[in-house]
Amino acid sequence: MQNKSIKNICCIGAGYVGGPTMSVIAANCPKLRIDVVDINVEKINSWNSNDLSKLPVFEPGLEALIKKCRGKNLFFSNKVEESIANADIIFISVNTPTKTKGIGAGFASDLKWIESSARQIAKFARKHTVVVEKSTLPVKTAETIKTILNSANKKNSIKNIENNNKTFSIVSNPEFLAEGTAIEDLQNPDRVLIGGEDDYSINLISDIYREWVDSEKIITTNLWSAELSKLVANAFLAQRISSINSISALCESTGANINEVAQAVGSDSRIGKKFLNSGPGFGGSCFKKDILNLVYLSRYYGLNEVADYWEQVVKINLWQQRRISSLVIRNLFGTLSNKKLAIFGFSFKANTNDTRESPSINISKDLLQEGAKLNFYDPKVNEKQILNEFVEIIDKENVLVSETAIKAVEGVDAVLVLTEWEEFKNLEWDTIFKLMRKPAWVFDSRNCLDKEALIRIGFKVWSLGNA
Ligand code: UDX
Ligand code: UDX
Repeated sequence: MQNKSIKNICCIGAGYVGGPTMSVIAANCPKLRIDVVDINVEKINSWNSNDLSKLPVFEPGLEALIKKCRGKNLFFSNKVEESIANADIIFISVNTPTKTKGIGAGFASDLKWIESSARQIAKFARKHTVVVEKSTLPVKTAETIKTILNSANKKNSIKNIENNNKTFSIVSNPEFLAEGTAIEDLQNPDRVLIGGEDDYSINLISDIYREWVDSEKIITTNLWSAELSKLVANAFLAQRISSINSISALCESTGANINEVAQAVGSDSRIGKKFLNSGPGFGGSCFKKDILNLVYLSRYYGLNEVADYWEQVVKINLWQQRRISSLVIRNLFGTLSNKKLAIFGFSFKANTNDTRESPSINISKDLLQEGAKLNFYDPKVNEKQILNEFVEIIDKENVLVSETAIKAVEGVDAVLVLTEWEEFKNLEWDTIFKLMRKPAWVFDSRNCLDKEALIRIGFKVWSLGNA
């Protein structure tokens, strides 16, 4: 670090973003002390668990970093006030869900956790503190944070002489990590984006990343550009998925093959191959929330056509999920009452235990509504997490969770693959076939299984984007 006076970092929020991000910073900056704090006692206990398989976040490579840094320069605790007071830099990494009521409900982000974090910082900080927005936020949120921090500053400096050096700078440093590859993304990022208003703070945050990221990958902008770029990056990624998913339906109707089309289209270097896998729709905590934010923001500024354009990305996503549940029902003779189905995969994508906005949730709910009995299996999502999504379902006996794929298929009419876990490709499909009721269906919404091999075993197979 060029700036030797910086010693302590605090991160508020020990979630999917805060935990892995701080672990990577700790591993690369051994001279910094990093305190990750959270109001959730149970979560902090898990972060401190001796059994590293009990960490609240599953990410390849995370356990090794925790082993290396925890207790040395990386600490997890509920000591929010104390850590704020000691910090030179505070990352805010709390969750920002979509509002469920009031103005902007269903679109705008609920910033109550951001606001309460800003108020805590305002109260407990003791010196000049750089406050970094890590959570994805609507553009201009920094303005809100600034207002809260500055008002506290005035009040405290009159009351308390010790506090009269208390000043704040705000920096936006959005996170681009994808779950499942978080550690790799953090260690080797395409770019690091740092938006701010003063060179001192921008350089301070850049210095941290320069410990392991090439300078040319560190992009500095003004605050608003950084905030907006994060929303737009996620919107563009999600748009590619909705685009390819819309074409998957056309492939099914025309006899084209979605994988072949994606490959042919993606081979144009201007388009690129990534993010063209069709599937049951995007999930995860970010895409839908961030696009709806963009939609809300555009409408707020009177840009209704812009808003409609981006909202369509979310509409197609929901349509794709509905389309899949409908065709499952259609193929199972139009009714699911007295039918059992196995659902393979509940996380929103492979290699994560995160189920937020997972397409499995909506698709399963549609099937339950039709009277199906569902038996879930996911390699990393536990029973409690799965059952939590169905608390409002009246027929509780229709939701079962199994510890293995084989246990989930006894007597079922169909297996639905909704997450592309590697394990699913290597299952003993001939054993599964024997255990199922006939005709035995496989619906492969991720196009990840060997269709021909399944047909040879005797399965009836539907795979996405194939006639
Ligand atoms: C992040 C970003 O912050 C969010 O904006 C982005 O869109 C998705 O990713 P994430 O880390 O995934 O959120 O959220 P989560 O795993 O829910 O973690 C947030 C943590 O903040 C929780 O553990 C919660 O207990 C904690 N929290 C929340 C606090 O410690 N204090 C609060 O006041 C509010
Ligand atoms: C995303 C962004 O990639 C990341 O930069 C940002 O910081 C947070 O949001 P994440 O939600 O963790 O990351 O996962 P991502 O790999 O982007 O996948 C999101 C969803 O899109 C998943 O449900 C995934 O299955 C789906 N997806 C992705 C597809 O259906 N097809 C693809 O080609 C790629």
